Amino acid sequence: MSATPPAAGGPDTGTPHPARVYDWFLGGTHHYPADAEFGAQIVALDATAKYGARHNRWFMQRATRHLAGPAGMRQFLDIGSGIPTEPNLHRVAQALAPDARVVYVDNDPIVRAHAAELLHGTEDGVTAFVQADAREPELILERAAEVLDFTRPVALSLIAVAHFIGGEHDAHAVVARLTEALAPGSHLTLSQLAGDEETAWVGEAVDRYTTGGVTLVPRTRAETERFFDGFTLLDPGLAQPPDWRPELGVGEVRDGTRVPLYAGVGRKR
Ligand SMILES: C[S@@+](CC[C@H](N)C(=O)[O-])C[C@H]1O[C@@H](n2cnc3c(N)ncnc32)[C@H](O)[C@@H]1O
Repeated sequence: MSATPPAAGGPDTGTPHPARVYDWFLGGTHHYPADAEFGAQIVALDATAKYGARHNRWFMQRATRHLAGPAGMRQFLDIGSGIPTEPNLHRVAQALAPDARVVYVDNDPIVRAHAAELLHGTEDGVTAFVQADAREPELILERAAEVLDFTRPVALSLIAVAHFIGGEHDAHAVVARLTEALAPGSHLTLSQLAGDEETAWVGEAVDRYTTGGVTLVPRTRAETERFFDGFTLLDPGLAQPPDWRPELGVGEVRDGTRVPLYAGVGRKR
């Protein structure tokens, strides 16, 4: 979210960045005062933002439990992976499937700086990080193919990242390019800021992010479902994160608060 370029060689700490603001929402330690200040502005608009971020994270964990468990996935491509937050996706996947191969992708150099924390996986599995932009799907597919076999099913995740793609970039075309590279039986896990909820703060948040130089695109249920073209949405379909298969949760905190995100998992036909 920087109008001013970062000093050569160092992160731009003076303006908020989505990955670090999200880290602040989650109670992490990898953010700067500018990120905390921006996060607090968003919380002032929506008091449930931190709850929603935690539930987005729990959704990732439950989806991964399903994918590495009953769905039998052994290859994961997590785009917009974020600053490491325990448990990360590979921990959840490799706890169930120690041979799982996981490629993380994020475009933020701060995530790369903390990638070493991500890369401790099982001996039988593989955990790798690629710094790349989701808007360059060809590059991501090329780099991921060094670790993943795209002739076999891959679990692609785009969790709380598609809403940062918009403007001149067609998010649906980006996701379609990624998903057309996947073999049948692959899965897509995605969450997205809801645009048809009656929450006035969403428009305010979009304005704040835009002012900070970040694209934030809320989408309707139908627009979000379109990301799953060619996939069969698993039960219960698109849901608020807390409502997606809560029975797979471990130690989650629920108070019935509405979370304005659409979350779902689909299986490629
Ligand atoms: C809200 S965080 C979500 C992190 C994680 N997926 C989760 O749900 O817990 C969004 C992440 O997407 C990354 N991101 C935003 N735009 C991106 C893009 N165009 N390409 C790759 N990563 C992007 C940010 O750097 C940030 O780490």
